[in-house]
Amino acid sequence: SDAEYDALKRELIEIEEMYPALRTPDSPTLRVGGPPREGFTQYRHAVPMVSLDDARNEAELREFDARVRRMLGVEGPVEYEAEPKLDGASLEVVYENGVLTVAATRGDGVVGEDVTPNARTIRNLPLRLFGDDVPERVDVRGEVVMRVEDFERLNRELAERGERTFANPRNAAAGSLRQLDPKVTASRPLRFVAWGVGLVRGKEFKTQSEVIEALRRWGFEVAEPRRTCKGVDEVIEYYREMEALRDSGDYPYEMDGIVVKVNEIALWEKLGSTSRAPRYWIAGKFKPREATSQIVDVIHSVGPSGVVTPIAVLKPVQVGGVTVQRASLHNYDLVKKMDVRIGDWVFVRRAGDVIPEIASVIYERRPPDAKPIEPPKTCPACGAPLVKEGAYYKCTGLACPAKLVGTIVRMASRAILDIEGLGQKTAELLVERGLVKDPADIFYLKYEQVRSLPGFAEVSARNLILAIEKAKRVSFDRFINALMIPNVGDYTAKLLARHFRSLEDLMNASYTELLSIKGIGPETAKSIVEFFKQPRNRQVIEKMLKAGVEIVYPPRPEEAKSPLAGKTVVFTGALKSMTRQEAEELVERLGGHAARSVSRKTDLVVVGENPGSKYQKALRLGVKIINEEEFLEMVKPFLGGEKRGLFE
Ligand code: IVH
Repeated sequence: SDAEYDALKRELIEIEEMYPALRTPDSPTLRVGGPPREGFTQYRHAVPMVSLDDARNEAELREFDARVRRMLGVEGPVEYEAEPKLDGASLEVVYENGVLTVAATRGDGVVGEDVTPNARTIRNLPLRLFGDDVPERVDVRGEVVMRVEDFERLNRELAERGERTFANPRNAAAGSLRQLDPKVTASRPLRFVAWGVGLVRGKEFKTQSEVIEALRRWGFEVAEPRRTCKGVDEVIEYYREMEALRDSGDYPYEMDGIVVKVNEIALWEKLGSTSRAPRYWIAGKFKPREATSQIVDVIHSVGPSGVVTPIAVLKPVQVGGVTVQRASLHNYDLVKKMDVRIGDWVFVRRAGDVIPEIASVIYERRPPDAKPIEPPKTCPACGAPLVKEGAYYKCTGLACPAKLVGTIVRMASRAILDIEGLGQKTAELLVERGLVKDPADIFYLKYEQVRSLPGFAEVSARNLILAIEKAKRVSFDRFINALMIPNVGDYTAKLLARHFRSLEDLMNASYTELLSIKGIGPETAKSIVEFFKQPRNRQVIEKMLKAGVEIVYPPRPEEAKSPLAGKTVVFTGALKSMTRQEAEELVERLGGHAARSVSRKTDLVVVGENPGSKYQKALRLGVKIINEEEFLEMVKPFLGGEKRGLFE
């Protein structure tokens, strides 16, 4: 990783300084970048592109400032221009009389590669400069970069086409720039961000701030936010702010530090350079977020929603000041796509506060006995079969201990059983104390048990028990939704509730019958079959019914003489007597279908307050329109016992 490379290089520099005789003519410390490759013409920079020394922390930034002041013999604060240090590939672009003539990579600092046709394809790189102070010649220097989101999109596209992906935006930028075919470069989302100049003929600058301002005026993108700092304290404040900005994930580019530059150019000559780098600039590097490590094993972890996630067990490694031993591999599709195996060397990455992830695999270092990672067939926590839900494998066990808290919280939510007072905290407590061992146990809770939980008093405990009691009377679709069957959300639950006459019928439905229902695909059908096949799941359902859970079935459209039977109804605007969800459920219960948009197939549009474009469309299509009062009038005779939660 970058950080490991930097550390090794630093060590080498120290050794060479201590024992100069050991310095070899081909030492990496003498080289600033990669040597030019074959295939490109060489380009000799008019002014060599030097390297930068690094400061790894605030103390080293202070040392830099102390040295500058010592060498200049100044007591007070020195003015610095501080800029983001973007992580990309450096490029020099020559403009003669404002026209782009040559673009070259840094190469070894003296000679680089002429990549002019490639650079011309970078959309934000000016081909001609604008303004009345464009010099006769200016060599503009900057960074070729990719926005993080563009980089991720590019990698996705490469992966889809089965091509090798890039480890990070810098490699992607450098690799795209050095394509022998400029058409490939043109297809990559590259950007050029200017940070300085080399040779300038026909213009004098007094400060680095002036340089950047001129570049911006002439038409270049320059790195933001910059700051002119009076003294090192302001530099450190900027350094902290930029590191926090980087960690926030809100910065569009990969930023690996800041660059601090003595602002007054006249002082640059006084300070001079070492054999390696100028003494008037320094890079303030951020804590690295990437390191290399080896995958020694993989564990399959079940999350609260039943998703099984592969987690890499790593040889412990320091990343961003933390020892990392585990990293998420996200999902098995990605594992397959990345072709990551046990035994592989990988880049481990920490972004902000989230769990570390494997950024990329170092295929070149793959040991011959590296072992592919396969998704498990059954849930590692409860042994139930796993089914696919999109890119994920999900557990089908209703009583799975790994997802028990998640199941309870979802079951209790507004859209399902609506048990107020049963949130994450309470669910955790109930499970921790062994009061709830499977989801059915919720319906057996006693007042005393709830009362004994921290955070509960007489009233709140009684309210929770009442809420649970009320939740026992539940519509068929909500009951199905509460079972947490993979691939079955509220929409599918409604389809199932409309299709099957009873829970019994649903439980015994065959794959073929399920597949015949419009809106249900093979993955969903398989999930449902797998779910009800399990004796343990049936037991838990049985236990719920024994506790007094009563399923309220919708009347069959042909049975109910409901005015809505078989009708498609759309609501628009705010209703006064109920929420949109309640109104839609009412329609479904009365054998109708609640749709979200108006079409020729719509039978009825119910208009509330401030109706939207659906109202206009209904008028245009000549669909029957009624107001809320008329709707209530229409459904009133049919409410009977079905009005749970509506007009009580
Ligand atoms: S001044 C050529 N300013 O960082 C050395 N460099 O690690 C003078 N970089 O090669 C560099 N942002 O490619 C400077 N605002 C900035 C920069 C910047 C990124 C790159 C540059 C340089 C590398 C050194």
